[in-house]
Amino acid sequence: MTRKLFVTTALPYANAAFHIGHMMEYIQADIWVRFQRMQREGNAQGGQKREVHFVCADDTHGTPIMIAAEKENITPQEFVAKIAAGRAQYLDGFHIAFDNWYSTDSPENVELSQGIYRKLRDAGLIVTKTVDRFYDPVKGMFLADRNIKGECPVCHAKDQYGDNCEVCGAAYQPTELINPFSVFTGSTPVLKPSEQYFFKLSDPRCFAFLKQWLNTPGRLQPEMVNKVSEWLGEAGEKLADWDISRDAPYFGIPIPDAPGKFFYVWLDAPVGYLASLKNYFDKQGLDVEAFLNDPAAEQLHFIGKDIVSFHLLFWPAMLNFSGHPIIDNLKVAVHGHLTVNNEKMSKSRGTGISPLRYLELGMNPEWLRYYLAFKLNAKVEDLDFNGDDFVARVNSDLIGKYVNIASRCAGFIAKRFDGKLADSVSPLGRDWICKALMHDGAERQASVAASFEAREYGRALREIMEIADVINQYVDEHKPWILAKDDTKTAELHDVCTTALILFRQLTIMLQPVLPQVAARVAEFLGDAELSWADTHGAAVYESMLGRTIGTYTHLMQRVDAKMVENLFDKPAPAAPAPAVAAAATATPAAAPTTDAGEGDGESDIEALAPTITIDDFAKIDLRVAKIVNCEHVEGSTKLLRLTLDVGEGRHRNVFSGIKSAYQPEDLIGKLTVLVANLAPRKMKFGVSEGMVLCASAADEKTNPGLYLLDPMPGATPGMRIR
Ligand code: MSP
Ligand code: ZN
Repeated sequence: MTRKLFVTTALPYANAAFHIGHMMEYIQADIWVRFQRMQREGNAQGGQKREVHFVCADDTHGTPIMIAAEKENITPQEFVAKIAAGRAQYLDGFHIAFDNWYSTDSPENVELSQGIYRKLRDAGLIVTKTVDRFYDPVKGMFLADRNIKGECPVCHAKDQYGDNCEVCGAAYQPTELINPFSVFTGSTPVLKPSEQYFFKLSDPRCFAFLKQWLNTPGRLQPEMVNKVSEWLGEAGEKLADWDISRDAPYFGIPIPDAPGKFFYVWLDAPVGYLASLKNYFDKQGLDVEAFLNDPAAEQLHFIGKDIVSFHLLFWPAMLNFSGHPIIDNLKVAVHGHLTVNNEKMSKSRGTGISPLRYLELGMNPEWLRYYLAFKLNAKVEDLDFNGDDFVARVNSDLIGKYVNIASRCAGFIAKRFDGKLADSVSPLGRDWICKALMHDGAERQASVAASFEAREYGRALREIMEIADVINQYVDEHKPWILAKDDTKTAELHDVCTTALILFRQLTIMLQPVLPQVAARVAEFLGDAELSWADTHGAAVYESMLGRTIGTYTHLMQRVDAKMVENLFDKPAPAAPAPAVAAAATATPAAAPTTDAGEGDGESDIEALAPTITIDDFAKIDLRVAKIVNCEHVEGSTKLLRLTLDVGEGRHRNVFSGIKSAYQPEDLIGKLTVLVANLAPRKMKFGVSEGMVLCASAADEKTNPGLYLLDPMPGATPGMRIR
């Protein structure tokens, strides 16, 4: 039977761009969704096929957005549309595969929210009470807690919000503030009676339901069960009625039969999950009611620890008492918060990381996916982004352990065996396959799957890297590069490279939820239409690989350059300059051009253009495609790599290049690049350099230190002239 899954992440407030904490939540959910999508009927794990719907939406309503729009002199609808238009670049950039992105300011959400409200009212769970509310007499508007400031009644700190004090942490009512004032007009707010609508959480039915709902095994993390149990108290005596109404003017959904009253944003926000699902199903011509009423349908919300009360008290009670079928299969996965170098994210303190800057710096989104996944588990624990740790983890695991296997073996298959894998694997190779994949008599792939399912990603990745360690040990012991030099060892070479690539494919399948892009490239290179979890089991591990002709291996991933990470962090004010949009070509090892970079022009961040030349000037420079046949460190130099280049001349050239900070020698071997071939040879401390390879770099090394070797498009061959 197909397992039907409806997966969401929290709906972000539509008042700002995403920060790296949002991306963490999306990555966490996306990995889980991708893992589910790889499952097929009759898996090793007794698997079922999954039908997965993964949706989100902007959370649009409420006072802050209304005020922000007012400041910009646009309507709230225009304001949230602007925010919505900016979402895709983040989601696409980090490979987050939502099926639908919608808005709580939508006809579906109005209808669903009002419908749920009517059912709650019919169930006798809506009550009205007249309460005194602060009112700004100048603006003519009731004030939300955060629209009022004043002196903390506890520690007397000035300028504190109406709900809690940021200095001493005390929580209080806005009416308790000393010398309160409206943040809009500075006027003293007055108390004005107002009739408000409440969801009657104090009703014994709510307690009875929540108690039972909460304690259903598998629904919530144990620490959440404890926390909410505390909130419930022994017999629900701690549950207070929940104020769900706000007075006009308010950007929100009108409460039926209550003129001038709107739903408080947190009433319609979670309904937005259903609105987005409905919108998606309608667009696909699918029946959303049938899905929601299917007893096999499960709903899983990924959320952060700060919004637990809304998702573990109000929302389940709303679903239950409005007779919503999916409540029985509702699960909530709560994560901790991401900190950066152990500090809460804050622009002013300069510790925030902008996800867009990450992408603009040319950093690989899959580095971040891997790093965060490695740190994630199923607990409600905060996790820290640490720059050094990030560089070390990605370089050691992804480059040193994973990519390394293919880069050491794939070339021989192409060069020596016409791209064809061996028709069989030797008993020794099979032993190593077992050694890599079996642990205590069980297939590791199954335990990796169990870890992904349980959201224990760190555990899954540690186990995958243990497999990678065994494969690397195999390659190290059998040394294909030595076998390749001995004509009597051809069969052995074929066997070793085939075995290693079979195992490399297994690693790729298991890493696919985390590294979808790399996995797609590997699938293409190996000739797999798709990588499915079913291929991690039994004979499926190697059978389809035997005798297979594979494509040409191209390098899968660069190492992280520590300098890139430095540039990732927000600089304390004034705001960091935007990263250069284009990099000017400079040459190494010659010194970077001395022209001052675009400081004064105020327009662009790129380096000023050099004086005009004629085509004849250009023709004096003989640029050639060169193949890097070898590359190594230069002893005693912190900057240089020694390149051995084939320019089709029937001899090799020796060229030194100042690119050590950007590349590892093994990552360059076999690649093509561009050489200034008629540059006078230059005697350097370490030997003679016969030419110069070209690199792109930004003018200002401090803000953008990246160096990028030029890479001709496929098809170019050594010796071709660039004109
Ligand atoms: N709009 C509400 C959610 C409504 S759900 C029906 C909201 N929006 S938010 O933009 O403030 O947060 C969206 C999600 O990002 C929440 O799950 C929140 O916990 C999460 N995060 C916010 N800061 C975070 C970190 N520093 N780290 C990880 N997640 C973080 O709340
Ligand atoms: Zn205080």
